[in-house]
Amino acid sequence: MSSQAITEPFENLHDQILDVVGEEGVVAGAEAMARYLAEERGRYVGRAAFVVRPANTQEVAEVVKLCHAAGVGIVPQGGNTSLVGGSIPFEEGDEIVLSLERLTRIRELDAENFTITVEAGVILQQVQEAAAEADRLFPLSLGAEGSCRIGGNIATNAGGVQVLRYGNMRDLVLGLEVVLPDGRVWDGLRGLRKDNTGYDLKQLFIAAEGTLGVVTAAVLKLYSRPREVVTAFAAVPDPETAVALLSQVRAASGEQVTSFELIPRTILEFATRHLEHCKDPLQQAQPWYLLIELFGGRPDGGLREALEECLMAAYEDGQVLDAAFAETETQRQEFWRLRESLTEAQKFEGGSIKHDVSVPVSAVPAFLREATDKCQELVPDCRPVPFGHLGDGNIHFNVSQPEAMDREAFLGRWEEMNAAVHDIVHRHRGSISAEHGIGRMKLAENARFKSEVELEMMRTLKQAFDPKGIMNRGKVL
Ligand code: FAD
Ligand code: MLT
Ligand code: ZN
Repeated sequence: MSSQAITEPFENLHDQILDVVGEEGVVAGAEAMARYLAEERGRYVGRAAFVVRPANTQEVAEVVKLCHAAGVGIVPQGGNTSLVGGSIPFEEGDEIVLSLERLTRIRELDAENFTITVEAGVILQQVQEAAAEADRLFPLSLGAEGSCRIGGNIATNAGGVQVLRYGNMRDLVLGLEVVLPDGRVWDGLRGLRKDNTGYDLKQLFIAAEGTLGVVTAAVLKLYSRPREVVTAFAAVPDPETAVALLSQVRAASGEQVTSFELIPRTILEFATRHLEHCKDPLQQAQPWYLLIELFGGRPDGGLREALEECLMAAYEDGQVLDAAFAETETQRQEFWRLRESLTEAQKFEGGSIKHDVSVPVSAVPAFLREATDKCQELVPDCRPVPFGHLGDGNIHFNVSQPEAMDREAFLGRWEEMNAAVHDIVHRHRGSISAEHGIGRMKLAENARFKSEVELEMMRTLKQAFDPKGIMNRGKVL
């Protein structure tokens, strides 16, 4: 919280902003700023003139107004868990980071309207907990939920492990409060399921990754808390069988599948080898696994029996090789900790090249075969560990380096491998960013696949909202 290291062109802006937010609202100096300038894998490390931490919407608006007048770029930041470098400023150091971490009020919970109104800096897990206290469910759930913040979830249209049942963040937002790039505040905090009064403006800010404005608060949808939760860890011979089983479980449960996550043996071994809390839930090694979860509305409403019957029939047909049900909440959490540790587990096996892609669910097996062959052709002995949200057709096609290869040499193949995998995704009419966004990482690849007419519409929107180009510049577009 000091003004040391503020370079000359930013001194005036710094002093004006200090008047608005006070000492607690400004962070300067390399050491104090470090945690705002690097993402967790260290792939992107930026510089900033300084970091601003406003305490409320009005302060955000004043800060944005001052930056707008000075023509200084703003990088909005929530929990800084982005996997595509979206929350990290560029290396030039001529932008400010605008952290929403002090906007942490839950403004209202309306249990009868099934809505909660929260500020952008509230941590996702805290929203889940507030909903549970009111006997409600906020269904967005992902590995970073203990540190990512609602504004970041909205700006990236976060997905996670319950999209199959409840949709992604876009489906959970009813209203927004946004500070526009010139500092005006749009109060769109409406908790309505029906509102056909023109363009649905809130949609523009969802998945915009901070390029059109700063989200300061949101009205989010809540659901009834499930009364029956059934969780199983099942082994299958191959992805084709996994896809077939999804249809069977959907039908058998009356569409009550909440999660349907795919895990290959390779990455399960990474996790059990390196992370003490990760244990293989099954007795024998199997090639592929599914973490299946169903939510029902009545205690003992028959979901357990429905899933058991379904898996047993599949077992008899050779579709399921083995399965374990979570008999206690502790066991359920063990299954989920294993699943949520997969990102971390890859770090122990050297360099990893990421692809967060989606294709139609029916095309997942063909995509996996083609992408695996292609990567092994490019880098013999590389180790694809495709895992993730099979129920949404969203696979994290991450590739770990060959054991004997130099880490940097492998990571040097990042763009080439991305391009090859994305070409396959494109042939299946898929998306090269299913849930993590574009940020800095996928800028060129996104431009390669979007049509000129689509890019032109995006540029037109950017120009209309942010003609000075100060909001998270160089990201997305
Ligand atoms: P940040 O990283 O701070 O920012 C992300 C982007 O949003 C940036 O472009 C930033 O400028 C912008 N932004 C942030 N706040 C605002 C605001 N208030 N207004 C405008 N723009 C803003 N993602 C998934 O979708 N599904 C997963 O399953 C998933 N699993 C993950 C697991 C792990 C272990 C990790 C580390 C990440 C995972 N992610 C996942 C990625 C990440 O957690 C999400 O993208 C999350 O939504 C980002 O939230 P954040 O608060 O950390 O945002
Ligand atoms: C997850 O689903 O665990 C993350 O989105 C995956 C990742 O780290 O690629
Ligand atoms: Zn994911």
